Amino acid sequence: MTEKLEKIDFYYYSPTGGTKKAGMLTAEGLTELVYRIDLGQKGPFEPGDNATALFALPVFSGRLPAFAAEKIKQLDGTGKTAVTMVVYGVRAYEDALLELNDLVRNAGFKIAGSAAVIARHSIVPEVGAGRPNEQDKKELVEFGQKALQNIDDKHYPELNIPGNRPYKDLPNNTNTPICTDECTKCGVCINSCALGAISLQNKEIITDAEPCILCMACVAACPMKARILPEPVQAGTNAKLSPLKEIYRENEFFI
Ligand SMILES: Cc1cc2nc3c(=O)[nH]c(=O)nc-3n(C[C@H](O)[C@H](O)[C@H](O)COP(=O)(O)O)c2cc1C
Repeated sequence: MTEKLEKIDFYYYSPTGGTKKAGMLTAEGLTELVYRIDLGQKGPFEPGDNATALFALPVFSGRLPAFAAEKIKQLDGTGKTAVTMVVYGVRAYEDALLELNDLVRNAGFKIAGSAAVIARHSIVPEVGAGRPNEQDKKELVEFGQKALQNIDDKHYPELNIPGNRPYKDLPNNTNTPICTDECTKCGVCINSCALGAISLQNKEIITDAEPCILCMACVAACPMKARILPEPVQAGTNAKLSPLKEIYRENEFFI
């Protein structure tokens, strides 16, 4: 069996944890040590310097979160290898994995393997509930091991990733999560927001719709469970995604 890599850079954005979980399972098959680089972290962006990078990003409306894509554009992957993954909530990943692979290749990396992985839908958690499950965990570790073998063999296969160029348009968001009466203005939501969309003004939590991408990080982070989507937005999304509650979608591996 191929010896695991000593250390890799793990670039991820995971507002509610599913993407990070899927990436860490893949890392288990690939490497002994993981240098984590959270693309959602505010402040200066410090790339890693390991020879192999794992990228894991969530799918939002069939695309990648644009701010995270911009950070990947800043990397220099010349002479480095990468493993790529998008994580989505059962509906579809559309152009997201193609977009990620284009970004990573344009940055100079050679790609040893890619995956489109299912996790719980962060707006309607009954969709993809319990994912990644035990079977997913096994598949993700195995995917990491196969990617490791490709890296060891210097084999960078033709991956035939589905999707279209130009990619589908990014949605124009006008909604944001809101605070209920349970809000204690503790500020956890402010710190959780990668886009800096939330602030405290005149003792009120204010959310700016322009930068907000409805990623649900603030909703997941709130210790009082006082951040929610406006009722019509939540109800509309529930109605749209409800048929997916019955669907078990398999992960896809391109390796
Ligand atoms: C704003 C938004 C848009 C989403 N768009 C899609 C989508 O187009 N297709 C899909 O299957 N899941 C979609 N999802 C579900 C997420 O991709 C999925 O829950 C993912 O696991 C979120 O990553 P996280 O768990 O790291 O936060 C969307 C979620 C959010 C919050």
